[in-house]
Amino acid sequence: MKKATLLIKNAKQLLTLSSNKKGPRNGKEMEDLGLIEDGVVAVSGKKIVAVGKTKDVLVKIKIDRKTKVINAQDKVVLPGFVDCHTHPVFGATREEEFELRIKGKSYEEIAQAGGGIRSSVRSVRQLSKDELIRLALPRLDRFLSYGTTTIEAKSGYGLSLKDEIKILEVIKKLNQIHPLSLIPTFLGAHEIPDEYREKRQEYIDLLIKQMIPEVAKRKLALFCDVFCEKGVFNIDESRKILETAKSYGLKPKLHADQLISFGGSELAAELKAVSADHLEFISDSGIEKMKQSGTTAVLLPGAVFGLGKDNYPPARKMIDMGLQIALATDFNPGSSFTESMPMILSLACLRMKLTPAEAITAATINSAYAIDKGDSIGSLEPGKKADIVIWDVKNYKEISYHYGVNLVDKVIKNGEVIR
Ligand code: NIG
Ligand code: FE
Repeated sequence: MKKATLLIKNAKQLLTLSSNKKGPRNGKEMEDLGLIEDGVVAVSGKKIVAVGKTKDVLVKIKIDRKTKVINAQDKVVLPGFVDCHTHPVFGATREEEFELRIKGKSYEEIAQAGGGIRSSVRSVRQLSKDELIRLALPRLDRFLSYGTTTIEAKSGYGLSLKDEIKILEVIKKLNQIHPLSLIPTFLGAHEIPDEYREKRQEYIDLLIKQMIPEVAKRKLALFCDVFCEKGVFNIDESRKILETAKSYGLKPKLHADQLISFGGSELAAELKAVSADHLEFISDSGIEKMKQSGTTAVLLPGAVFGLGKDNYPPARKMIDMGLQIALATDFNPGSSFTESMPMILSLACLRMKLTPAEAITAATINSAYAIDKGDSIGSLEPGKKADIVIWDVKNYKEISYHYGVNLVDKVIKNGEVIR
C-alpha cells in the first residue's frame, strides 16, 4: 500500500485528462477529459500515486496523521495549466503603444518606427539580472494564481550575445527560486536589433556562429524559436537559423503566419518543429502538412484580442482536419499582456468556437506536449508530477464561461499546496 502525503478527495468533477493514447489529442479525442465524479487524487512527495473514484482509491492508499487531506466537495480538480508560449522577462511595459493602437496605429507601424520589440530590447539592455528577476517575480506569482503551474519562457529582448545569455540565466534562476516551472526557449531571432538594421546578414551570422553555439554549450535552452514573418525573418533565414539550432540539439519552434500568410507553418512541418505558434493566417496546406509532421499548432487568441483585432486562427478547421492544437497566453508587453490562462480559454471558446472541454485539453495535456513535457505533466496520472489546481466551481465549463474573474481555490505544485 502506498502512503499518501497529500490526499484530495470527494472532488465533484476530477478531470484527469488521462487516456490510453500517448501523445497530444486531436479531433474528437479533445472532448475526452477523463472525467471522474466524486474523485480522488493521492500524492506521495512530488508525484501522483493514485487517481480514481473516492471509494475505490481510499481502500488502496495508506494515510496517517501527517497526510494532508483536502476535501474538494463541490469543487472541480484539474491538472495545472501549461502555458506553452510566454515572453516573461522584460523591463519596461508598453502601455503607450496600447493607446497608440487604440487610436489607429498598427502593431507593424509602431515596430517600423522603432517601437515594439526593439523598444523592449533597449529597456532590457539597461537592466541587470537582479533587476530583471525582481520585475519578473510578481508576473510568475500571477501565472500561478490563475492556475498555471508550468510556463515555457522565451528570451528575445536582448538580441546580443551578452543580453540573450543574461535573459536565459534570469529564466534559469527564476526556475530555481520560484515554485512555477519555467522551460527555456532561445528567441535570439525575434527581431533585427537597432545596430544591425543596415546589415541584417551580419546579425544572422552572429546568431548562427556565436549565439546558438553558446546557448547550447551552456545548456540554457531546450528550444530555439524564430519570428518568421514579413519584415522580420524570412523563410530562408528562418530555415537556416533553425537548422543550425537543430544541429546543436535545440528543438525548433516558430512564430508563424501571425500577420500574413507567409509559409511559416509549411516550414515548421518541413523542419518537424515541435510547434508552430500564432497561425492566424495559416493556409489549408499548412494545416495538412503540420498534421503530417506531428507539429502542434499553438494558438494565442490573447495576441489577437490584445492587438484589438478579429482575425482569430481557424481553430475549428484545425480540429476538424485532425491537427492537434494547444493554447497559451503569449504573455508579453506588446501584443498580449495577460498571465491568465482562464482568460485565454474564454477567448478560445467565444472567438474560436472551441468547446470548454476542447479548450481544457488544449491548455493542459496538449500544451504539455507542445513543450515536449507530455510524459511528466498535463494530466493527473500515477507517476506524473503533482501539479494540481482546485477550482471553486461545480462544473468545469464555468472556467471559460465565467470570464474575467479568478476562480482558483488552491494551487498544488510538486505535491505542495502553495496558494
Ligand atoms: O508573440 N510576434 C512576436 N513576438 C511577440 C510580441 C513581442 C512584442 O511585441 O514584444 C508575440 O506576439
Ligand atoms: Fe510570442
